[in-house]
Amino acid sequence: MKWNKTECRVFQAGLNIASRFLYWREPNTVSGPGSVDEIPSILKSMGVTKVMVVTGRHVGKSIAPAIIENICASGLDCYHFGEAESNPSTTTVFKIRDLYKEHGCNGFLAIGGGSPMDAAKGAAALITRPKKTLNQMAGLFGVLKKIPPFVAVPTTAGTGSETTIAAVITDAETHHKYAIMDIALVPRIAVLDPELTRSLPQKTTATTGMDALTHAVEAYICWTNRTKKSDKRAEEAVKLIFKYLEKAYQDGNDMEARGKMLEASFKAGYAFTRAGVGNVHAIAHTLGGLYGTPHGLANAVILPIVLEDYGAAAYPRLAKLADLVGIKGDSVEDKAKAFIAEVYAMNERMGIPKGLDVIKDEDIPQMIKWALAEANPTYPVPVVYDEAHCRRVIKIIRDKA
Ligand SMILES: [Fe+2]
Repeated sequence: MKWNKTECRVFQAGLNIASRFLYWREPNTVSGPGSVDEIPSILKSMGVTKVMVVTGRHVGKSIAPAIIENICASGLDCYHFGEAESNPSTTTVFKIRDLYKEHGCNGFLAIGGGSPMDAAKGAAALITRPKKTLNQMAGLFGVLKKIPPFVAVPTTAGTGSETTIAAVITDAETHHKYAIMDIALVPRIAVLDPELTRSLPQKTTATTGMDALTHAVEAYICWTNRTKKSDKRAEEAVKLIFKYLEKAYQDGNDMEARGKMLEASFKAGYAFTRAGVGNVHAIAHTLGGLYGTPHGLANAVILPIVLEDYGAAAYPRLAKLADLVGIKGDSVEDKAKAFIAEVYAMNERMGIPKGLDVIKDEDIPQMIKWALAEANPTYPVPVVYDEAHCRRVIKIIRDKA
């Protein structure tokens, strides 16, 4: 279904009113170096006796074994699924759901970047809503029922999945990447241990950090849905990212910077869960679905391009962010443009390209279709895109490469 600008704005205004009646829970956090040691007692406090541990392959072999050993030593049972891929597919989600049931688990522990968390959230949604398909739960509030106890342990600082309502899944057949968004999917507890991010490669530190920046900025420039708290969280996140992302990029052993980036990712996650993301994410998801482009990389590249494209509609809010991080300018427009220029400069200093050359001409109609289906009418973006506008922006992303 196609939505025109007026219909989108009416929908968003209605959603904004409805959202004020919901309780936007933030997960409890346990943070600091060594905080993973508290996982067994956290699980016990939630009544979990057999936990389904979900990880990707790398974390499954590097970080997870010690955590699993600790859990088993505490007398709890666990089953480890270690094959969550990036951009997790519906097939993976079904596997996790089946194994969870087969092994009689009663709680989830997702360790990793956004992918294992999203895959586990998708499985948790299927367990709590066995009569619904993933597709039927796509979009907003398709779950609306409590999921099993869920503990999230991020090993990257960016996705914010440890605090968000979103599970982003890719259809194994069509490659369509879509999000299930529901307050029920907010993890119960997030464990923010900077030691787990110590060995993150520079490139991943950069792109995941820019994903967090994208969350904070897209949430901050939404025209509706924003609250005092979401604005505060977005502002805190942007300040932390401007101060600590490049420090973490330069020196992965800087545990202060690593810890602050985990904090930033968590805060940005809350901001966008409440206020929403926007066209940057809508387009980035199409690249993840079609070409497997890492989510953070796609967002990092697309963020300044879309902000530039928004023009005057985003200037006042971007100027506020510029003030916050000490970027100077003589007018609101100057400050906003200087903020965007700084985002480009951060990307450049961290080796992130200006554009993405993977985009094929023949795929652009599909990208437009998916991006508009994701953004419209839900995302309260400063500028609603139609087909022609979306095509223009996608071509800029490709041509800048
Ligand atoms: Fe994101």
